[in-house]
Amino acid sequence: MNSTIQTILNHQSIRNYADKAIDDGDLMDIIKCAQAEPNSINGQQFSVIVVKDAQIKSKLAALCGDQDYIAKAPVFLIFVADYHKLLLAAKKNEKPMEIVTDVEALLVSSVDIGIALGNSIAAAESIGLGVVPIGGVRQNPEEIIKLLNLPQLVFPISGLCLGYPAENPGQKPRLPINTFMHLETYHPDMESFIDEYDDVVSEYMSARTGGQSRRNWSKSVSGIYKSVYYPKVTPTLKQQGFLKHDD
Ligand SMILES: Cc1cc2nc3c(=O)[nH]c(=O)nc-3n(C[C@H](O)[C@H](O)[C@H](O)COP(=O)(O)O)c2cc1C
Repeated sequence: MNSTIQTILNHQSIRNYADKAIDDGDLMDIIKCAQAEPNSINGQQFSVIVVKDAQIKSKLAALCGDQDYIAKAPVFLIFVADYHKLLLAAKKNEKPMEIVTDVEALLVSSVDIGIALGNSIAAAESIGLGVVPIGGVRQNPEEIIKLLNLPQLVFPISGLCLGYPAENPGQKPRLPINTFMHLETYHPDMESFIDEYDDVVSEYMSARTGGQSRRNWSKSVSGIYKSVYYPKVTPTLKQQGFLKHDD
């Protein structure tokens, strides 16, 4: 197994960071890895905001649902869906930009951001940094848009905390491979694998919390998905110029 694969397989999210700055050259390498990704039509419909300022990080930590580790991480990246630059291209060529009226625009930029996150995470972990992605940037998108001065057609999709690890929480087990890898066609019968995984996660949680929680996977995710947990996303996307239809 080569060192790239080993780095990816060793991933665990880190939420406690040592008081140690990240070298500017290392940070630039991570950003370049994010930008080097394949992306849809080479439209590059995403950007990254690099935040090191303590005050801005602290405001972001609060707006992301009081996730204090954002303030403590030496660097916080925010990946944004970005059709601002595509609008400039459309104006230059005197073309309309219908794509932003459709959910396809959000799928395209979110896929681009997912790949960029993956590249950044692999690059950061390969040089000994710890990371945790932050979907919490979509909890109060309107305030985050103001704080970061995001223009129309730019929307925060995910953050990424970067810092040297000050904890070793242990790798989180994944669902059995049979629920993930389907041979030739999709196989929907997986209840027994979910039962099996619930037991594994229950044990893992008990070990991780010193016996305080035995919360299993199905209980945890069904509790979260019983409602739309970030209800401000759709109205704020519309304010930012997405999903609008001329009636
Ligand atoms: C897009 C995305 C958003 C996430 N948002 C948060 C978040 O807001 N807060 C947090 O603590 N973890 C967040 N996570 C981390 C996940 O909880 C974590 O990856 C998952 O529990 C698996 O654990 P592991 O990364 O240690 O393997 C996010 C992960 C992803 C990929």
